[in-house]
Amino acid sequence: MCGIIGVLCKNSNAGKIAYEGLKRLDYRGYDSWGLAVKNDGLLIYKRTGKITKLPKKMFYGSCAIGHTRWATHGKISVRNAHPHISQNGKIAVVHNGVIENFQELRDFLAKKGFSFSTETDTEVIPMLIELYLSRNLCFRESVRKALLHLKGSYAIVAISELHNSLIGARRGSPLVAGFANGTFLLASDMQAIAPYATKAMFLEDSELIEFNRKAKVYDIETGKRINKPVKKIDLKLHSADKRGFEHYMLKEIYEQEQAIKNASLQSNALIEKVTKLIKQAEKVFIIGCGTSMHAAMFGSYFFASIASIQANAILASEFQNFLNLVNKRTVVIALSQSGETADILEAVKSAKEKGASVIGIVNVVGSSLTRLADATIMMNAGPEICVLATKSYLAQLSVLYLLANSLIKKHEQAKKELSEAARLVPTIIKTNESKAKRLAKKLKNAKSIFIIGKRESAVTALEAALKIKEVSYIHAEGFASAELKHGTIALIEKNVPVIAFASDASDESITNAIEAKSRGGFIIGVSSEKAKCFDYFFAIPKSKLFSILSIIPIQLLAYYLALSRNLDPDKPRNLAKSVTVK
Ligand code: G6P
Repeated sequence: MCGIIGVLCKNSNAGKIAYEGLKRLDYRGYDSWGLAVKNDGLLIYKRTGKITKLPKKMFYGSCAIGHTRWATHGKISVRNAHPHISQNGKIAVVHNGVIENFQELRDFLAKKGFSFSTETDTEVIPMLIELYLSRNLCFRESVRKALLHLKGSYAIVAISELHNSLIGARRGSPLVAGFANGTFLLASDMQAIAPYATKAMFLEDSELIEFNRKAKVYDIETGKRINKPVKKIDLKLHSADKRGFEHYMLKEIYEQEQAIKNASLQSNALIEKVTKLIKQAEKVFIIGCGTSMHAAMFGSYFFASIASIQANAILASEFQNFLNLVNKRTVVIALSQSGETADILEAVKSAKEKGASVIGIVNVVGSSLTRLADATIMMNAGPEICVLATKSYLAQLSVLYLLANSLIKKHEQAKKELSEAARLVPTIIKTNESKAKRLAKKLKNAKSIFIIGKRESAVTALEAALKIKEVSYIHAEGFASAELKHGTIALIEKNVPVIAFASDASDESITNAIEAKSRGGFIIGVSSEKAKCFDYFFAIPKSKLFSILSIIPIQLLAYYLALSRNLDPDKPRNLAKSVTVK
């Protein structure tokens, strides 16, 4: 979702630092962007589209804020881009989240003589701050009082032309504070501040931080001071450069060997703690959104087939419908790369209110889910910058495979199997990358692509379809192969591409692939053996973990489909990496 940053520094380079940080956040949203810098007065610069050059005059100032937008309220336009300013032009605010009662607040402020120039929910915030400043409250108290009016979710950073401080606050959306020599930073995630900060502090809901010469944290509700520790951060964990790859997506596909390995290196004590929780539970739910939901579905197959444990995979956004089944003997396994997805955080909070134990499987260190969960297994996949999830997905599957096996005391064996599977990744990429490139050229104008697989591969089919849709905008549909004959086969005609996942030539999916071929379908097999019905073939070495590895050629195909259609694979339209609104 939107990325926000704020900088206060001694050396008057605040605008430049905010701009550099913003560029590291643009995977969160890229409809439009903007900065405000405090120099003599407040200078504002806003543009639509992805981040481009910033005029030099915006580099200099003691204080700056920046924003990269994923539009919720109001169309994509320069006017609606952040920062938003107060009526007198002296307060600037950037915001991530949704203010649900913004219309009510606009009416309230309009009666007091304020007028609005944008369609956003955010604009009420600087106006409310101006209102309280006009009542002679200090900047911090004015921000705090303004926040008390808001319903919904927010992380904000505010600066004022008249005050020498930088203020940040959060409720429901992430905000991290960074500290370096004489520089204070605030951002929606660590990646933006990692190059500058040596220490960090994660703000919790209902906390406000004020930086001037020192950092002070306050409770938004009561206004009382809170003592919070500042932690040293390991910068390596947050470094994210392309290492010579043209796009993050390709780099991250290549990093999957390491991702599988790292995900399987979990401490035995943690795995024991988590398996104990699962074994004692009466009911187990696995929840997630998007790709993480596919991992959840995979998990439910693994738990059933390996450990004979029923674990229902439920979309986090639909979990409220199952809450009446949740009690203190329930375990909820929550999967999230970012650890910030609003739907998952809401589901987890509701489950906890009902007394359930929550196990988080998360990639981003220090994210909200890690702080809510009773136990967290880190995926250790490293920063994933491309909006599409690739290496984090394989890391999630690896953790779930390990967990399912640890329930039957076979985790040492599972670790070995995962490490063997990891070793196959470079071969899979090498054998299939140029094939994927060629196939992408052939399929770049396809109207639809259908994808089938059985058992866990039925889930791989869903994930493969999601990858293709997200990045190439070609319609793709995945389903369990036996379902083909129950409807979708009506759409198969001459040359319609059908991707079939089949562990080997005797896999039951082959029968369904033949049915599609008989109707003229162009069959693309992903398998360890070339079946006769395949018109095109992606080879996967024989492996027990075929279902985990077989997504790789289709990730590559999705990547090259995007390139062959002149699209940016790292930033597909309308999407955001971390969806922090409902
Ligand atoms: C967004 C992303 C998807 C991702 C989903 C869940 O929609 O575009 O790629 O799978 O969020 O994200 P999470 O961080 O919770 O795994």
